[in-house]
Amino acid sequence: IVEVDARAAGTAISPDLFGVFFEDLNYAADGGLYAELVQNRSFEYRSADRSGWHALTAWELLERDGAAGSLTVSTAAPLHPANPHHAVLRTVATGTTGSGAGLRNEGFDGIAVRAGESYDVSLFARLPDGAGNRLVARIESRDGGLVHGRAELGPVPGHWERLSAVITCETTDPDARLTLTTSGVGTVHLDLVSLFPQATFRGRPGGLRADLAQAIADLKPKFMRFPGGCLAHGQGLGNMYRWPDTVGPLHQRRQQPNIWHYHQSMGLGYFEYFQFCEDIGAKPLPVVPAGVCCQNSEVTGQAGIPQEEMPAYVAEVLALVEWANGPADSTWGAVRAAAGHPEPFGLEYLGVGNEDTITDTFRDRFARIHDALREHHPEITVIGTLGPSTAGQDWERGWAFARERRIPVVDEHSYKSPRWLLENTRRFDAMDREGPHLYVGEYGSGRNNGRSAVAEAAYMIAMERNGDVVRLASYAPLLARRGSIQWLPDLIYFDNTDVWPTLNYHVQRMHSVGSGDTALPFTVTGAPEPVPVRNDARATVLIGTGADTRAEFTDVTIDSPGGAPVPVPEFGTWHAESGTWVTDGSGGVRQTRSGARAELLLADAVEGSGYAFSVRARKTAGD
Ligand code: AHR
Repeated sequence: IVEVDARAAGTAISPDLFGVFFEDLNYAADGGLYAELVQNRSFEYRSADRSGWHALTAWELLERDGAAGSLTVSTAAPLHPANPHHAVLRTVATGTTGSGAGLRNEGFDGIAVRAGESYDVSLFARLPDGAGNRLVARIESRDGGLVHGRAELGPVPGHWERLSAVITCETTDPDARLTLTTSGVGTVHLDLVSLFPQATFRGRPGGLRADLAQAIADLKPKFMRFPGGCLAHGQGLGNMYRWPDTVGPLHQRRQQPNIWHYHQSMGLGYFEYFQFCEDIGAKPLPVVPAGVCCQNSEVTGQAGIPQEEMPAYVAEVLALVEWANGPADSTWGAVRAAAGHPEPFGLEYLGVGNEDTITDTFRDRFARIHDALREHHPEITVIGTLGPSTAGQDWERGWAFARERRIPVVDEHSYKSPRWLLENTRRFDAMDREGPHLYVGEYGSGRNNGRSAVAEAAYMIAMERNGDVVRLASYAPLLARRGSIQWLPDLIYFDNTDVWPTLNYHVQRMHSVGSGDTALPFTVTGAPEPVPVRNDARATVLIGTGADTRAEFTDVTIDSPGGAPVPVPEFGTWHAESGTWVTDGSGGVRQTRSGARAELLLADAVEGSGYAFSVRARKTAGD
């Protein structure tokens, strides 16, 4: 029996419970929410992104009908210093149809197009030798046998110029390609070759994928955190996510590898994040690096931005507030206005740091940023960090530091088992009501199934019941592209044509859409005894660093003492007769900061049963 005291004044619940956490992990941005259909559009892929990648990854030369030519890459006289590489397409002989050589892009596992829909094709081009070449863009079937739509671009001038056209497709094809061919002999330089559906979310040109953005919008999130996660800090000081590199014209944005071992075009940058937040009525919650690398890992021999560079870095953080909230005639407000948004975005929250180890270097860098924000922007609520866990030294040091500095809100991460979430629904009751307040910035309970979803629901009720101190919360991660999954579980899965929200998604949605404003006191009597909890068991082995790494476990034997049922491994393919388990692209390999881990996951193992594994692991693909 649940008795609620409806006459009590109750406790006000934070209006910002619950939101979403967006990180460019699992191809959530390029190849995901960002609706660009061309992969490696600026010829900036490098082996630093992923071993084996280069400037022409996802591109190939076309020499059709007897046309002959070459496709190379140059850095001479680039379109912009931030975008140093471009393609050089040379035709030495035209083919029987009169067309020159061309190039073709494979998209992200193909390009999905629909009959009757229109697509914006655009590119920067120049003719170094002054010949009057034109270009033909085609969306065609994978084998080139069927042309779904075409458009002409040009004539191409002797200097870099953006050319654009619209292609309307007559056929639906989930696995199409984009081709560009020249009209004659000569050389054409090409950069930022782009293809976008016109049917983006809210119809914004160069915008977001409508179905994925709608799935996020349907959660009615009160806020959206971006760009991460560990991605905010990147791998070493040189790989930090620097927000000024992600605003302004696309060809002027500096691209870089992300911490999850692939490329960031930065087409989905701060402007697009803020605009999306505005479109869906969510408060923007950007997270900037706290002047240290991810968990202070000293990849470059330096855990923190050197002292002499800190004033410039602090100025960069302050500039973000001006860019978001300043008048259109302020220095940074003018950059926002030039992008088409003269009105301020209304930034309220700013995260500083993510899962940082609480070292002296961290304390120093954080304090410098925090002091400057307090002095110049007391209106901004700074969110600090408690490290990667819900307990332990960093967590305790994080709390002590937050209290000492009177940081208004701190970010705690809890990736836990369902059992842990269920056993910890009382943990917020004991929190100091005077602060700091809590942002449960990343949490989830290990699986996309009913047990995890129910445990998450119970934990969310606990947060809401303590909504005076638990101010914000977001499940993590949000998006995962099937075939490129690096972290399991996620809230929403997708491929080029479909979107699969999970049970966990519906729990989030239920709480967010129906969030309350006042928590009333209640008592529960006659509750049943807790039932034994079943948990997952895992065998994990480090297998490399590439996102598309595959592995095979052989000679798997699982002893289940006491006659407990032997669970079947999840996510890969299980061959019971040979005791072999093979990972596939949709799971079984989890990316962690130290590399890819193959994971043999046994669902619903009875806790405490003393399972014994014996496995041999073999890497079958990847780095
Ligand atoms: O959500 C995935 C990762 O988990 C985040 O990047 C990091 O903050 C956490 O460890």
